[in-house]
Amino acid sequence: MNSWVVLLICALTCCCGCSNGAPNCPHMCTCHFSNGDTKVVCSEASFSQFPSSGLPGNTTSLSIQSTNLSTITAKHLQATPLLKELQIYYNNVSTLGLDLLKGVPRLHTLDLTGNRLNVLPPSIFSHALLCNLVLKDNLISSVDTDWFPDNSNLTWLDLSGNHLTAVPIDLFKKLRRLENLDLSHNHLEKILAGTLDPLKSLQQLNLGGNQLRTLDPSTFRKTPNMTHLFLQENQLESLPPNLLQGLHRLDFLFVNRNRLGHISTTLLEHLSNPGMSNRLQVVLGQNPWVCDEKVEGLWRWLKENQKKVFLADDIRCASPDSLKERSVMSLTDIELAL
Ligand SMILES: *[C@@H]1O[C@H](CO)[C@@H](O)[C@H](O)[C@H]1NC(C)=O
Ligand SMILES: *[C@@H]1O[C@H](CO)[C@@H](O)[C@H](O)[C@H]1NC(C)=O
Ligand SMILES: *[C@@H]1O[C@H](CO)[C@@H](O)[C@H](O)[C@H]1NC(C)=O
Ligand SMILES: *[C@@H]1O[C@H](CO)[C@@H](O)[C@H](O)[C@H]1NC(C)=O
Ligand SMILES: *[C@@H]1O[C@H](CO)[C@@H](O)[C@H](O)[C@H]1NC(C)=O
Repeated sequence: MNSWVVLLICALTCCCGCSNGAPNCPHMCTCHFSNGDTKVVCSEASFSQFPSSGLPGNTTSLSIQSTNLSTITAKHLQATPLLKELQIYYNNVSTLGLDLLKGVPRLHTLDLTGNRLNVLPPSIFSHALLCNLVLKDNLISSVDTDWFPDNSNLTWLDLSGNHLTAVPIDLFKKLRRLENLDLSHNHLEKILAGTLDPLKSLQQLNLGGNQLRTLDPSTFRKTPNMTHLFLQENQLESLPPNLLQGLHRLDFLFVNRNRLGHISTTLLEHLSNPGMSNRLQVVLGQNPWVCDEKVEGLWRWLKENQKKVFLADDIRCASPDSLKERSVMSLTDIELAL
C-alpha cells in the first residue's frame, strides 16, 4: 500500500517536472502549450545564444528577457514560422540582420526594449501584419523613413528613451494608422509644422521628457482623435493660444514641469468649451507661474474648472517675490489688484 503511494507521488512529481525538461523546450527556457498557442520564455542571465535547439516549431510567442543575447538573425526566426509575438527585452542586441522578419509573416508585435540598437537596416519593418513596434530604451539617434513600408499597418510605435534629436518630416506619411505614439525621453528640440498631420487616428501622443522650447500653432491641427497628450518635462515657455483648438476628445493634458510663466486665456477657454470631453484632466503644476496682472485669466479659470485640474494646489507662483510659492488659486482680489 505504502509503496503505491510513494510510486504515485513519484509519478506526479516526474510529470510536473516534465514541463521544464520536455524534449520540445530549449534548455533554460520554459514553454507553455495551450490551445492554439505555444509560448516560450527564456530569462536566464547567462543565456547568450538564440535558443535554436529545442524551440517548438509551432511557437507563437517568444520572449527572451534580461539575458546576454547579442545577435538575432532571420535564420533563427525561420524555425518558428507561426510566430505572432517576439519580445527581446533588456538583452544585449546591437544590430538586427537584414530581412530579420522575412520568415515570420504572422508577426504582429515586436518588442525590442532595452537593447543597444542604433543603426537599423532599411526595410527592416516592411512587414504586412506588424501592428505594435517597441524600440524603447535603445541608442537610436535617428529614425530612418526607409525602415517602414508605404502604408504601414503599425498602430503603436514606441521610440521612447532613445537619443533622437529630430523626427523626419515625412516619417508619418508612411504610418498613417498610428493610434499610439511615444517619443518621450529623447532629445527632441522641435516638431516641424505638418509632421503629425497624416496621423488622423492618433489617440495618444507622448512628447514628455524632451527639449521642446516652442510648438507650432498648427502642430495638432490634424489629429482630432487625440485623447492623451503628454508635453511634460520640456522647456516650453509658452503655448500658442490655438494649440488645442479642435482636440475635443482630449481626456488628459500634461504640461507640468515646463517653463510656463503665463498661459493664454484663449487656450484655457478651448479646454472648458462645452464640446470638450467631460473626462478632461489637466496637469499644469511645476511651472514658474508669474503672478502679475496677467495671471488673472488662469486664476478665474482655475476657480471655475477646479474639477478639470489635477493637483490644482500645485500651481504656484514663482514670482513676484511677495507671492512666491503661493498657490495661484489661493490669491485674493487684493493681491491681484483687481
Ligand atoms: C505544439 O507542439 C507541441 C509539441 O512540440 C504540441 O504538444 C502542441 O500541442 C502543439 N500546439 C499546437 C497548438 O499545435
Ligand atoms: C556576455 O557575452 C559576451 C560575449 O558576447 C561576453 O564577453 C560577456 O562576458 C557576457 N556577459 C555575461 C554577464 O555573461
Ligand atoms: C554586451 O556585449 C558586449 C559585446 O559583445 C560585451 O562586451 C558586454 O559585456 C555585454 N554586456 C553584458 C551586460 O554582458
Ligand atoms: C496592411 O494590411 C493590409 C490588410 O491586412 C494589407 O493588404 C497591406 O498590404 C498591409 N500593408 C503593408 C504595407 O504591408
Ligand atoms: C476617431 O474615433 C472615432 C471613435 O473612436 C472612430 O469612430 C473614428 O474612426 C476615428 N477616426 C479616425 C480617423 O481614426
